[in-house]
Amino acid sequence: MKKRIILSPSLLSANFGRLEEELFALEEAGLKWVHWDVMDGIFVPNITFGPPVIRQLRKKSKLFFDVHLMIDKPERFFEVFTDAGADLICFHAEASLHLERAVQKVKDLGVKVGVALNPATPLCKIKYLLPDLDMILLMSVNPGFGGQKFIPFTKEKIKELRQLLEEKQLSVDIQIDGGVSPQNIGELASLGANIFVSGSAFFNFPPYGQRYETFLKALKDKGS
Ligand code: DX5
Ligand code: ZN
Repeated sequence: MKKRIILSPSLLSANFGRLEEELFALEEAGLKWVHWDVMDGIFVPNITFGPPVIRQLRKKSKLFFDVHLMIDKPERFFEVFTDAGADLICFHAEASLHLERAVQKVKDLGVKVGVALNPATPLCKIKYLLPDLDMILLMSVNPGFGGQKFIPFTKEKIKELRQLLEEKQLSVDIQIDGGVSPQNIGELASLGANIFVSGSAFFNFPPYGQRYETFLKALKDKGS
């Protein structure tokens, strides 16, 4: 099954003092998605932004808001993030005790739903939920910071997950987040990932239009 390919730049590596301009620059560069890393200082050892920031910037941008919640007991906040303008809510399997109920809660709010797995969390955790999901996020670094090194065994997870989805004939997106760059994106796509988050390897190399081209070219060269 041929999957759409999306690059979702992570604002974690953008200039937080100029988020409006950064979003505008992404749109100008032809990007369709933007990745919001929400951190609470509990689930991960770092804090970023919350719903008020997203709400203000929602008014300024047409990009698809891909919201990655790295917060404890995320179900407490699904409504407020949806209301702020999230198009997709992705939360961590490790952070939510009643996972099936949490997934249904996001669906009931009328936005896309994704579940994220930390590098060491096995795929079996979400096996029975697959038909209900729009996306699975496989973390390829331990969440909390940008600019970390890609953890190699994640490749095996991508391959296994894509196989599982194909066996079940499910058209679910596989997002990969952490250490993604033009150097490895082609290989990750060939293993079955189709939505790529990139923070430092994207924002540290302006202009964004050219950088986007570099990522797309790397995908094309690998035949994705
Ligand atoms: C890490 C975040 C990522 C991060 C990726 O906790 O979920 O989205 O921004 O950054 P890079 O691409 O620099 O590894
Ligand atoms: Zn993320």
